[in-house]
Amino acid sequence: MTPHEAKQKIEELTHTINNYNEEYYTLGQSSIDDNEYDILINQLSDLEKKYPDYASPNSPTVRVGGQPTEFFENVRHNHAMLSLSNLYNEQDLLDWVKRIQTGLDQEAFKAVCEVKIDGFAISIVYTDGEYSQAITRGNGEVGDDVTQNVKTIRNLPLILPKKVTLELRGEIFLTKERFEQINQQKSKSGTQTFKNPRNAAAGTIRMKNQKEVAQRGLDILIYDVVSGQPSESHSKNLDYLAQLGLPVNSRRKVCHSSEEVFGFCNQWQNNKDKLPFEIDGVVIKLESLRERELLGFTAKSPRWATAWKFKAEKATSKIVGIENSIGRTGILTPVANLEPVQLLGTEVKRATLHNYDQISKLDIRLGDTVFVEKGGDIIPKIVGVDYTKRPDQVQPISAPTNCPECESTLLKPEDEVDLRCESESCPAILQGTLEHFVSKKGMDIQYLGNANIETFIKKGFIKGIVDIFTIANHKETLLEMEGFGVKSVDNLLSAIEESKKKPINQFIFALGIRHIGEKAAKVIATRVKSLEDFASLDRSTLEALPDFGPIMIDSLVSWLSKESSIETLKKLQKTGLNPMPVELDENQPFAGKTIVLTGTLTVPRNQWKLKLERAGFNVASSVSKKTDYLLAGEKAGSKLKKAKELGVEVVTEDQISKLLGE
Ligand code: IVH
Repeated sequence: MTPHEAKQKIEELTHTINNYNEEYYTLGQSSIDDNEYDILINQLSDLEKKYPDYASPNSPTVRVGGQPTEFFENVRHNHAMLSLSNLYNEQDLLDWVKRIQTGLDQEAFKAVCEVKIDGFAISIVYTDGEYSQAITRGNGEVGDDVTQNVKTIRNLPLILPKKVTLELRGEIFLTKERFEQINQQKSKSGTQTFKNPRNAAAGTIRMKNQKEVAQRGLDILIYDVVSGQPSESHSKNLDYLAQLGLPVNSRRKVCHSSEEVFGFCNQWQNNKDKLPFEIDGVVIKLESLRERELLGFTAKSPRWATAWKFKAEKATSKIVGIENSIGRTGILTPVANLEPVQLLGTEVKRATLHNYDQISKLDIRLGDTVFVEKGGDIIPKIVGVDYTKRPDQVQPISAPTNCPECESTLLKPEDEVDLRCESESCPAILQGTLEHFVSKKGMDIQYLGNANIETFIKKGFIKGIVDIFTIANHKETLLEMEGFGVKSVDNLLSAIEESKKKPINQFIFALGIRHIGEKAAKVIATRVKSLEDFASLDRSTLEALPDFGPIMIDSLVSWLSKESSIETLKKLQKTGLNPMPVELDENQPFAGKTIVLTGTLTVPRNQWKLKLERAGFNVASSVSKKTDYLLAGEKAGSKLKKAKELGVEVVTEDQISKLLGE
């Protein structure tokens, strides 16, 4: 065979196999049997080995697996992969729809409901019509590159009929049938079986051996396109993806009212067992991308979508004891010790009771038989009592008066349901504060785990966050302690040293000030460059910050007005802590400026938004005195009026293009 003939044969085989694949995945049947298919694959694979120059990275042979992966590279997502807020009952749903309508100035409600596949989230990129990358969700901003493993999923086309560039979101999963087969094989070979299809899919996608991934038989369904979408309508975009041959989640419906949404949720709650894969709820998303943009995101999730969680499975058990624990904010949480019971595949021995108001509301007593439920949180909760099983002479559970950790008197602020320890020397608060301070989203000091923190508190090395930075003074003692070697101590001390230069937003978040979460810390960081700047923030500066409400302002002002806070900041500075200011990129001349878009624009809003955000603008949804510019298109209405009243600068598309130097 000449090289030219080989090239032709490779192309011919590729075409034939791709046709069989498509037939199999669109029609669910194949006109050749497995053996014949394997022969074609082997022929192609042999030719590709002989003539590697003609082997395409997206050849159908890559589905069977190639070289093992050594490690998965970290890749930043072009668009963050956020999670969803949850709804658990009809009232939650009504409230959500109402909030949407208020946010959209009472526009008619139109949302797409889709079954929520219980698998593993993935971002998939096609470049010029070719499959080019798959990244796991990771921490939402950075995930693992699993391109090679995802290639083995046979219902995902590697080449699209059009040379389009798309970024997609989907769910990788195992069908119930494949899951059973895999577990049967595992039982036979005496290896540990998987608890559920989700765990099995997640475990599979991270396997180093691509051949084994291929054999597991993963599946995928696409449910969103986040860049390259041709339409303003979510449904139309999904139809378009399906036309391109992509496997799209087809169990969906456009709904115009909360009743319709509720109907869809109930229909699938009752029929979920009929599906070939597991679902754990329904995702409700606004149909219009323009409306999505108007509503935007919170730090964790989009405002324009939410998840209806199917009723959690309930179990019954008996309360054998109560423990009280104190968290980092000093709040006391009663936790019930239970007789062990199985719930959704795990053994439950403890369940939260939330607070003592809840205990008296449900009239829960020691020895009671209770209903335990796993809601959206990982910790199970007690949702009710089976009074018919109550033994005689059980005593009500009374609230403690003193902190179980430090004995100081517990307080219950008016209008709050929680009991609180406010002692500055409470070891439980200290433990929680330190755990939060060193956590990944905070100072990210990996080597200072919870157990080490506990040991250092007990040893008296640490009495507050400042002492983390003087641990080096105890190096000799550390080296003599059990479980610490030269290497681990060095790792710990250099991790602490490195954390002194973490970005200032991470430092602000790490302080654990009430109501100052990740997003608020990022906003503050646009205005402060150093610890001194942070310490001298005043109310009026905070009031001028975009997306920074009165509760956050009150909380931060009150924290900064405490002598002990300023003292802590000063001491931290003395230890050499010098957080990095958030880079105001030279390419971001408008960093810190806020702009609102209104009216009909000649360029789609999401494109304007991207362009403006690249230049550093914060694109907000409503006009206030914090707005720097209003970009007004044709037919601008109430926002334009308000901007004029407030004296906000109004600009046209041409003017803003000029400002951006275009
Ligand atoms: S939309 C901003 N649609 O559910 C997030 N998610 O927290 C938009 N999921 O792990 C997600 N089926 O991977 C969406 N039809 C569907 C889904 C779906 C499953 C998963 C998703 C994520 C979780 C949402």
